[in-house]
Amino acid sequence: MTRLVVVGSINMDLVTLAQRFPGPGETLLGERFLSVHGGKGGNQAVAAARLGAEVHMVGAVGDDDFAQPLCDALAAEGIDIAQVAHIEHCGSGTASITVAGGENQIIVVPGANARLTPAHVAAAQSLIASADAVLVQMEIPLETVEATLRTAHRQRVPVILNPAPAQRLPEAWLKLARYITPNQHELAILLGADPTEDFRNLMRRAPCPVVLTHGAEGAWFREEGEPQHQAGFAVEAVDSTGAGDTFNAALAVFLHEGLPIAVRKACAAAALSVTRLGARGGMPHPAEVEALLARQRA
Ligand code: RIB
Ligand code: NA
Repeated sequence: MTRLVVVGSINMDLVTLAQRFPGPGETLLGERFLSVHGGKGGNQAVAAARLGAEVHMVGAVGDDDFAQPLCDALAAEGIDIAQVAHIEHCGSGTASITVAGGENQIIVVPGANARLTPAHVAAAQSLIASADAVLVQMEIPLETVEATLRTAHRQRVPVILNPAPAQRLPEAWLKLARYITPNQHELAILLGADPTEDFRNLMRRAPCPVVLTHGAEGAWFREEGEPQHQAGFAVEAVDSTGAGDTFNAALAVFLHEGLPIAVRKACAAAALSVTRLGARGGMPHPAEVEALLARQRA
């Protein structure tokens, strides 16, 4: 069984469904509201657990009404939450999400996620040392991202850095990652590059291997040499929230099967995730991934 440590955010997602996105100053009547569990870290942990991994979550919640349900939801998926900190006098992270036409707009208020420190990573050091891989994203302080990269690298444990939401990072940090997994837009920001430059060029120039998500079109990946393309899987998109998280989790879970297979399975898992509402709705079990792969082959 693949053993993973996820270092990242845990949010309550406040989701509004509407026919379209409102313009500035505009009020719309929406169709439906739901609150679901999210956050890139929590989502990646759940997706990996559903795919069969043993998952340890390093994160933080506040002391508000959202904190316990957020923890319970992770535990219900079989995730170890012993390293989820409870921060006093602090709200849990929230994400206000509008979904329209299968696309989303998101505003995240980090709350307790902003209080996840390098000390929390240090406390998880032995878990990290015995993991097959570590997943980390950027809804937590950058110094905590750096501590994760350095700790895992020191222990020779591969780290998948999902640079979302993107910020420019020092090259030295990127070199510590086994893979970075940006989308096209995030890759340019991460490298401080011209966003109009061809993303394949940016992939060749990146200081570490890149697995680039390309929405419904699938993904591109490069260890060395020329970037390779993996086509996406055609599905009916209901809600793309969490598709990237599902992709990252699947990549980590299936990495031992080799990068091309892992990327193919990650594309299939991500496609399945967009067929259901909510970041974690639609995150598949391995049999569903296999069924989609078989259908594509047929
Ligand atoms: O990647 C999707 C996630 O981003 C949502 O669950 C939301 O919480 C935001 O963090
Ligand atoms: Na979904």
